[in-house]
Amino acid sequence: MLRRPIVIANWKMNKLPSEVERYIAEVSPKLAAYPHVDAVLAGQDVLLNAMVTAAKGTSIEIGAENMYWQDKGAYTGETSPAALADLGISRVIIGHSERRNYFRETDEMVNLKTLAALRNGVSPIIAIDEAVQLESLNDHAHWIVNQVVESLKGVTREEMSRLMLAYEPTAAIGSGQAMGPEAAQKSLHVIRQTVADMFDQEVADHVRILYGGSVKPANAYELLKQPDIDGVLVGDAALDAATFIELISLAE
Ligand code: G3P
Repeated sequence: MLRRPIVIANWKMNKLPSEVERYIAEVSPKLAAYPHVDAVLAGQDVLLNAMVTAAKGTSIEIGAENMYWQDKGAYTGETSPAALADLGISRVIIGHSERRNYFRETDEMVNLKTLAALRNGVSPIIAIDEAVQLESLNDHAHWIVNQVVESLKGVTREEMSRLMLAYEPTAAIGSGQAMGPEAAQKSLHVIRQTVADMFDQEVADHVRILYGGSVKPANAYELLKQPDIDGVLVGDAALDAATFIELISLAE
């Protein structure tokens, strides 16, 4: 298989440290039934230590939801990519639409964070958002292309094998209404084509691209069936451990 399916739960700012162990204990024994799918849990910083501890010895990978682009220094309140790596965090979401919209993250900041994560051995999940209504998508390919190009500036061909991209149309996030599978496929294809144009077809064929935005068991299968959709990045639905497992079973 060229690209392993992957299901990533983005807990956002929803779970408490005291809830981590139970969730991971519920999920981890069930994963053996789905050996072809990668399972990642991304949590806010204050949970990461508990998440790494609870996931030790399991196949669950732990990711952060954000980080800063400097390795260390006087940046009160920020999270160092070197500290993430030291803690055993293997992935980090960068440029989530909530970061872009509520915390004014720009394409340039996303690019700096991407390079910093790669430099520290943490694999970036670069989120590409789209602030348009789902039905007027066709006019906005340039918006996606631009974000992909800007976030990948300075990334080498070799580093491309250590990152993934996640397309999340803003209108679909938390709305309960996912983008239709064909429309999502179209956007992901634009992203893959952009990677091919920036690098080459081989890099594009190997990079994993995810869809995010109101993914749930009722729509995951149709989304995951699309040729360019390699996985899903899930918010609300993945807060429940049993639903997270159900999504993994649909990706298998
Ligand atoms: O990163 C996942 C996300 O933004 C989608 O959230 O709640 O619509 O699945 P949700």
